[in-house]
Amino acid sequence: MNAKVSKLLNEQIAKELYSAYLYLDFSIFYEAQGLDGFANWYMIQAQEERDHAMLFLKYLQNNGEKVTLEAIEKPDKVLNVLMDPLKFGFEHEQYVTSLINDIYAAAYDVKDFRTMQFLDWFVKEQLEEEKNADDMIKKMELFGNDSKGLYSLDSEYAARVYSAPSLVL
Ligand code: FEO
Repeated sequence: MNAKVSKLLNEQIAKELYSAYLYLDFSIFYEAQGLDGFANWYMIQAQEERDHAMLFLKYLQNNGEKVTLEAIEKPDKVLNVLMDPLKFGFEHEQYVTSLINDIYAAAYDVKDFRTMQFLDWFVKEQLEEEKNADDMIKKMELFGNDSKGLYSLDSEYAARVYSAPSLVL
């Protein structure tokens, strides 16, 4: 595998684990506010991010590449109001999309079609991730200022259940 592609894939493991860490922080924030449903949604999101990290790890291993675990940053977003995690979450997913695109571009440059095919799943996943995050902001803007509306949103997010990623390596 091309050294730059391998390095970027390796770094993405820590980036995905940081995403898990960030969403765990959001979950803790909502739990403390008494919003168990929002807390549940982000707890499951954190599990999904761990899955993403494992997919990058497994892909490197399957290709016989050396894996080096990098440091995971501390979540440093200051959360004050209920909208904060939602806005930071959307911005973060846009950033992750840019990271996936950068790896894709590096693979494209060296005609690494296998890695491009592997990344196709993440390209699609990022569309879903950004849409979910944007929908949560819109719903909060519409219903979040009313206690009944907020209760209803919290109940909706409480119903989210974990499902393993559709990509299996
Ligand atoms: Fe790993 Fe939220 O994308």
